[in-house]
Amino acid sequence: MQRHLKASIRPAGAHHRYAPEAPAALDGQANFNPAYTKTARVLHWITAGLILTMIPLGFVIANEWGGYLQDPLYDLHRSIGMTLVPIVVLRLILRWARPPLPLPEDVSALQRRAAEITHAALYTLLLIQPLTGWIATSAYRAPLVVFGWFELPPIWPENRMLSDWLFSLHSLIGIAIAGLVAAHIGAALYHHFIRKDRVLMRMIAG
Ligand code: HEM
Ligand code: HEM
Repeated sequence: MQRHLKASIRPAGAHHRYAPEAPAALDGQANFNPAYTKTARVLHWITAGLILTMIPLGFVIANEWGGYLQDPLYDLHRSIGMTLVPIVVLRLILRWARPPLPLPEDVSALQRRAAEITHAALYTLLLIQPLTGWIATSAYRAPLVVFGWFELPPIWPENRMLSDWLFSLHSLIGIAIAGLVAAHIGAALYHHFIRKDRVLMRMIAG
């Protein structure tokens, strides 16, 4: 009742400022249908914080810049990396159960495609990267202790050559993730500050 009343008193033509992608806000707060659920948004920002920590952390340990903190930093990098696995899997399951609303209609087909490819590539690399780290660590026979709490078993027989090769791959994938994340953040800022649309707000407020 309440929301019909609200809709009917809205002056003709007074659409929501961001009408094109509407269902998100057409009916006001009472019937708010967010582009991303609250859980999806919280998990996105947790992933973002962890990945933005993991990339510099990876470079610090690979270049042995950690000094006396080197060993704890290795443990931290491995622990956060393994924590990302259930988070990314959960995000994919939730996304499958409740896909996000489509992007605003005035976003070009090319940009839409670019966003799809970037997101798919990020999800894929975020799953492969911890796996290469885990197999390489197993093949090296280094311990994999998660936040000093429990130890994950090796999943590969000892093989130093394979371990070296996989760490080189891990490094390349790390650089690819960093590049995609830079483009992704650039795109989010472009939407917010240049196109002035709701794309960034969809991931903040829904
Ligand atoms: C999404 C998760 C992860 C990201 C984004 C990530 C990223 C990185 C990056 C950027 C580097 C620096 C590479 C270089 O400059 O050579 C690195 C190194 C490293 N990562 Fe990861 N990593 C992840 C998960 C893991 C996991 C789960 C493990 C182990 C279980 C792991 C183990 C290592 C180790 C041991 C190094 C140092 C390799 C060396 O000394 O050459 N990483 N990581
Ligand atoms: C800190 C800066 C970041 C900003 C400002 C940002 C912003 C956004 C925004 C606005 C969206 C939603 C786009 C839409 O409306 O459809 C999004 C989606 C996404 N972001 Fe980020 N992001 C950031 C960091 C990251 C990082 C570090 C990762 C992971 C490496 C990441 C992975 C993703 C993925 C996979 C999606 C797609 C979500 C889906 O549709 O399931 N983001 N991001």
